[in-house]
Amino acid sequence: MNCIDTHTHLYLDEFDADRRETVEAAIAAGVNKLMLPNIDSASVHPMLALCEAFPDHCYPMIGLHPTSVKENYMDELAAMECWLLDRKFYGIGECGIDLYWDKTFFHEQEYVFRHHIDLALAYNLPLIVHIRDSFNEVIRILKDVNKPDLRGIFHCFSGSPEQARQAIGYGFSLGLGGVITFKNNKMQETLKQVDLKHLVLETDAPFLAPVPYRGKRNEPAYIPLIAEKVAEIKGISLQEVAEATTANALKLFNIASDTQI
Ligand code: NI
Repeated sequence: MNCIDTHTHLYLDEFDADRRETVEAAIAAGVNKLMLPNIDSASVHPMLALCEAFPDHCYPMIGLHPTSVKENYMDELAAMECWLLDRKFYGIGECGIDLYWDKTFFHEQEYVFRHHIDLALAYNLPLIVHIRDSFNEVIRILKDVNKPDLRGIFHCFSGSPEQARQAIGYGFSLGLGGVITFKNNKMQETLKQVDLKHLVLETDAPFLAPVPYRGKRNEPAYIPLIAEKVAEIKGISLQEVAEATTANALKLFNIASDTQI
């Protein structure tokens, strides 16, 4: 099987002891490409170091995570723009709105998200959108900016069929992670209704590990567990899920297919 983890934070401290082994385990599990969304200016160097160590497998993105939007957000945006001028990135993110952890900087989060939308359009890159407790706010902003050329991923999507239709209507794919393997998750009906061409796989490692690793550290090697769940819900083969989601991700990130895929 060949899959892509479209969202993994493998450069974080949680992997300091075994980062190389974790990448090798992912490759051995058939997860050949790892897309790395950024958190803030401090995570750029560790992220790029990982991409230099595994140039055929790890791909950097650049952005300011909504929970990292603080008083210094203008400095963070300036640093991000410098990086974009300096080298190739494959996406803009992780960005968006988070109303789960802390609402103090909600207005700044919105300003920063709108700035990320502008950068995604200027650089023709996919936008990786974090929507924790903020789906309606994100849709309101996308409606307001009204840019049909925008593309990207609604990261960790777990919404209703109607919410899926809205996200897809704005040009976005749905990022499916460990949450779809949890008991009582609401994605069964949504996944039955959504065409495979709108789906990509992601772990959000080290967070949100799928069953049977729920609560433990997540890692890209667990992507097949998510693919299996999609196959089970949609009543299709694992191979079909792997092929479709991989093709979707390659197209979205504008990465050429290679012999490993
Ligand atoms: Ni993330």
